Amino acid sequence: MDIVYSALVFLHLLGMAGIISGFLMQLITGNAKSPKVILHSALLQLLTGLLLVGLAEMGGGGVDHMKVGVKLVVAFAVAIVGTVNLRKPATNLAVAAGVLAILNVAVAVFW
Ligand code: HEM
Repeated sequence: MDIVYSALVFLHLLGMAGIISGFLMQLITGNAKSPKVILHSALLQLLTGLLLVGLAEMGGGGVDHMKVGVKLVVAFAVAIVGTVNLRKPATNLAVAAGVLAILNVAVAVFW
């Protein structure tokens, strides 16, 4: 189970990098593929985050439900902003997704 958990953390960190990369891509280059990078990475975060929580609970480790709840709400917000940004790309939407993802990194590290 340890290797599965580590693989999920690995993907979770790559997903975080994906959102930040997509946000910077859109901001700096305006590349048409940026919104897809942001949205797919946001969905990866939701999936891997929920699986991490499930595995931690199954392993009896338990998680801080308040912290996970806040991360879930912020990650949903990134996915919603990412969806709107895919339909009609806009710099302010990409910035919102990037800032929210950075907020979730802060929650993950400092909470
Ligand atoms: C934009 C979305 C997200 C970002 C940017 C993000 C970022 C991060 C980062 C940077 C870490 C590593 C922190 C550390 O090891 O100290 C982490 C860990 C974690 N995240 Fe997220 N996260 C996101 C969404 C979620 C969601 C939606 C959940 C679950 C509902 C979640 C659950 C977790 C858990 C359980 C860990 C702990 C892994 C461990 O170190 O054992 N994350 N997250």
